[in-house]
Amino acid sequence: MTGPLSQPFSVPGLLPDAESAWIDVIQKMDETYANLVAQQVELERKNAELEEAQAFIASVLGAMTDVLIACDRDGRIEQTNPAAERALGHAGRDLIGQPLRDHLAPDSHGAFARLCSAALQREGGSDVELCLRGPAGLFPVSVNSTVRYDQRGHAIGMVLVGRPVGELRRAYRDLAAAHEGLKQTQQQLVHSEKMASLGRLVAGVAHELNNPISFVYGNAHALRRYVDRLTAYLDRVHAGATAEELAVLRRDLRIDRARSDLPATLDGMLEGTERVRDIVAELRRFSSEQKHASERFDLTALLRSAVTWVAKAQMADLIVVFDLPETLDIDGHPGHLHQVAMNLVQNAIDAMTGAPCKRLELQGRERGGRVVVTVRDTGPGIAPEVIGRIFDPFFTTKPVGKGTGLGLSISYQLVRDQGGTLTAANHPEGGAVFTLTLPAIGGAVAAAPARGPQR
Ligand SMILES: Nc1ncnc2c1ncn2[C@@H]1O[C@H](COP(=O)(O)OP(=O)(O)O)[C@@H](O)[C@H]1O
Ligand SMILES: [Mg+2]
Repeated sequence: MTGPLSQPFSVPGLLPDAESAWIDVIQKMDETYANLVAQQVELERKNAELEEAQAFIASVLGAMTDVLIACDRDGRIEQTNPAAERALGHAGRDLIGQPLRDHLAPDSHGAFARLCSAALQREGGSDVELCLRGPAGLFPVSVNSTVRYDQRGHAIGMVLVGRPVGELRRAYRDLAAAHEGLKQTQQQLVHSEKMASLGRLVAGVAHELNNPISFVYGNAHALRRYVDRLTAYLDRVHAGATAEELAVLRRDLRIDRARSDLPATLDGMLEGTERVRDIVAELRRFSSEQKHASERFDLTALLRSAVTWVAKAQMADLIVVFDLPETLDIDGHPGHLHQVAMNLVQNAIDAMTGAPCKRLELQGRERGGRVVVTVRDTGPGIAPEVIGRIFDPFFTTKPVGKGTGLGLSISYQLVRDQGGTLTAANHPEGGAVFTLTLPAIGGAVAAAPARGPQR
């Protein structure tokens, strides 16, 4: 384009008036042309901006994996994103103006009609399941719908955003699988805690049984020797041996010694088997799974048995101090409380491994309607930063394979189920002290902790 003349010029033969009018016209043309150019530039700039904005919106719509469909008030498609076009199997321009209903499975028509009428009432909808009909069959989506308004605030349609249900299902399945995995891990841990305490119990009981059984075994051998000698002697008596002969035999076979040893040998065996019988009875009583039964039992005997079974087999140099009444009868679940006592003793032993002084002190008293038992050790005590967490399930400071972190949390629940409490503290002179309180006979109602929220 050639530029306009910017300098006035003289036309030969024109009058000065006519010439100035001509110059005015040329100047106006000049101005108009300049305006046109400016408008053109502005237009081009706006156009570029518009194209940019459109490209941006298109890229956002294209990046969406969710299906987006804008409909008018009658449910006709006005706009779609590429995910919707893929799901419906049509290009966007072919879809515009078509009723969305025609692209839905028949059993979604009702839900879609409800969405349309809700939009007229200026209401959206959430998690409505619609089934699109696509090239590869049905394509279920979970839809959220929002009302679309014009500049004057009139509802002119709705925007549907649908997430493929397959994806949701997969996410749900993944979540369910992760949850299942977690549950299994927890069960394994609970199981390994059970196995560990069973292992401790078996080791403790085996250790306890070992003594009387070897006692019985040794005495049985002695008895056999006595029987052999007595039989040999009697055989000679029945064979008609002479008095001199028998006197020699009696001395050689040490018959008098055998006879006098017999009652003590038999008594020892009897005592050993009684001890075995008692241990088995204790095992039955304290380790059985009595879920519902509450019975009267002697807490002193229970505590002594728990310490013996757990401690003796594991820590030969442990000093145990019992400060317990002769008997301390209470009502409760002996099996559960035995488990609690074994857990506390085991923790004390774990804590004292490597400690210079290994002393376990159990004290029991009845005080104000409660039975209070303390278990104190001479380990390093509980670190202040973890003391608030030791009753949490799975909390442990022990290495993998050694601790499951379930002992105290299980114990806490077992004690609470019997109207008791279990607390932990450090002793001023070092070591940890666990305090167990339980309702005493007759004092249970008055002193049991209140249930429900306290005011
Ligand atoms: N007597 C104790 N002395 C010091 N720390 C203890 C004692 N008893 C328990 N704890 C702490 O409490 C944690 C949780 O104990 P517990 O629930 O029995 O699980 P676990 O014995 O498997 O670790 C232990 O790992 C330990 O850190
Ligand atoms: Mg433990």
